Amino acid sequence: MKEIKLGVNIDHVAVLREARQVNDPDILQALYTACENGAEQITIHLREDRRHIQDSDVKNILQFSKVPVNLECSINKEILDIVSSFKPHRATLVPEKREEVTTEGGLDVFSYENEIAYAIEQLHDSTIPVSLFVDPSIEAMEQSKKLGAEMVELHTGLFANLFAMLNSSLPYSNHSVKELEFPRHELSNKLEEAIQQIKLSAQYANKLGLQVAAGHGLNYHNVHEMMKINEITELNIGQSIIARSVFTGLAEAVKEMKRITSR
Ligand code: PXP
Repeated sequence: MKEIKLGVNIDHVAVLREARQVNDPDILQALYTACENGAEQITIHLREDRRHIQDSDVKNILQFSKVPVNLECSINKEILDIVSSFKPHRATLVPEKREEVTTEGGLDVFSYENEIAYAIEQLHDSTIPVSLFVDPSIEAMEQSKKLGAEMVELHTGLFANLFAMLNSSLPYSNHSVKELEFPRHELSNKLEEAIQQIKLSAQYANKLGLQVAAGHGLNYHNVHEMMKINEITELNIGQSIIARSVFTGLAEAVKEMKRITSR
């Protein structure tokens, strides 16, 4: 089995800071704590609306991180210019809508193929390797390869939602996923299909020579399913680690995620 790299997404530390427009909690303290306790990569998203990570955070994190920094961004020209000038260890292109709560669904690598190809070229010109955050499908893997990416990150949101609707209190809460309110046996079948879809996509991408990551909605309860897929060599996890850190502290939360994602 190949080793799996744990990327810790610390955007939510900046969410808390921006909620009060103060310098607390300190994002650099989060960086050091995550790195000292098992993070092998730091993932941050410089959003167009700067709702959490700011340009100065990117600069400081790049300067002080002891592990590679994976910078997520949209294909907006202004953002790409900024990302190119920062030269992170990798850029991950993600779709972005102003009104969304989080990144919903993968990049549409077909409708925006010219824009994405141009973005990849620009980032490559600045010697930045590129990953595309895509929904798991054979077609999306082929297209990502064709567009020139080195890597894909498979969007695990559907899998995570199905898992939670089946195995947690989510369906009984205000945040139940309405479009997934199926009888349990149907949910169970759909979950198996979603896992299979991720597995086949990961295997296919690997055959094409793409590196394969996975992320979105992964947590302490569902991540074991992704660990069974050998072709996935990296996980990017944010929400569940930062949520747990409220109760255990960030050091313990990262350590525990590293423990259960060690093969
Ligand atoms: N990977 C990518 C590309 C993302 O956009 C996000 C969400 O910001 C994550 C991973 C982490 O997702 P989560 O916060 O649900 O763990």
